[in-house]
Amino acid sequence: MHVEPHSLQWQDAYKLMIGSIVPRPIAFVSTIDEHGIANLAPFSFFTAICADPMMVCFAPMRRGTDGAIKDTLANIQHNQEFVINIVSEPITAQMNDTAIEFNPEVDEFEVVGLSKVSSTIVKPPRVAECAIQLECVLEQILDYGSHPGSGSLVIGRVVLIHMNEEVYKDGKIDMSKLAPIGRMAGNVFTRAAADTFTLERKKFPDELRR
Ligand SMILES: Cc1cc2nc3c(=O)[nH]c(=O)nc-3n(C[C@H](O)[C@H](O)[C@H](O)COP(=O)(O)O)c2cc1C
Repeated sequence: MHVEPHSLQWQDAYKLMIGSIVPRPIAFVSTIDEHGIANLAPFSFFTAICADPMMVCFAPMRRGTDGAIKDTLANIQHNQEFVINIVSEPITAQMNDTAIEFNPEVDEFEVVGLSKVSSTIVKPPRVAECAIQLECVLEQILDYGSHPGSGSLVIGRVVLIHMNEEVYKDGKIDMSKLAPIGRMAGNVFTRAAADTFTLERKKFPDELRR
């Protein structure tokens, strides 16, 4: 069977999308508003773009209730800076609680009990409990509508990578120490390092090379 997304209610299209594009990594994004109040929220529409320059992106959708933009996007529009903190299993519940629709003046770090650590280049603080934190400067925002179900793509340039020495060895990240969490559909998460397997990448055979 097949279905044209525009023929569906946006909520049903959303369910098909998040059930198909799995597992998704989670950008735990910290920002600050114009009064300096910190904001923290998870975004699983998140991926890398390229390494040089190091570019990443995530997508805040419009609020399902009223089509308003989320606090994270408003803060980035205002001061062009954010930090992407990588979520490890021990803080999954706290990360999930920051997704509650708090009023903009609420500091989610304080509500869920996560600690701030100052960033080096950007103003938004990092999440101390996260083993990897990417300080980012806004490169571009692409907007795809202003109604519930629509959203934006935030593209950022990583200007500094912080890594806890426990998870970083010989130029590589130790997955068992990082214990990354991914998001599936609905309220289902996955332990991304728990059930992995190795597959060698084959080279193009020399005898076929012209
Ligand atoms: C694991 C997880 C992943 C999420 N991913 C997204 C996402 O990719 N895009 C989005 O718009 N909302 C996503 N949300 C919902 C936002 O985190 C939620 O709307 C939050 O209140 C936004 O906060 P803000 O208004 O402070 O920016 C996600 C929630 C959870 C728990």
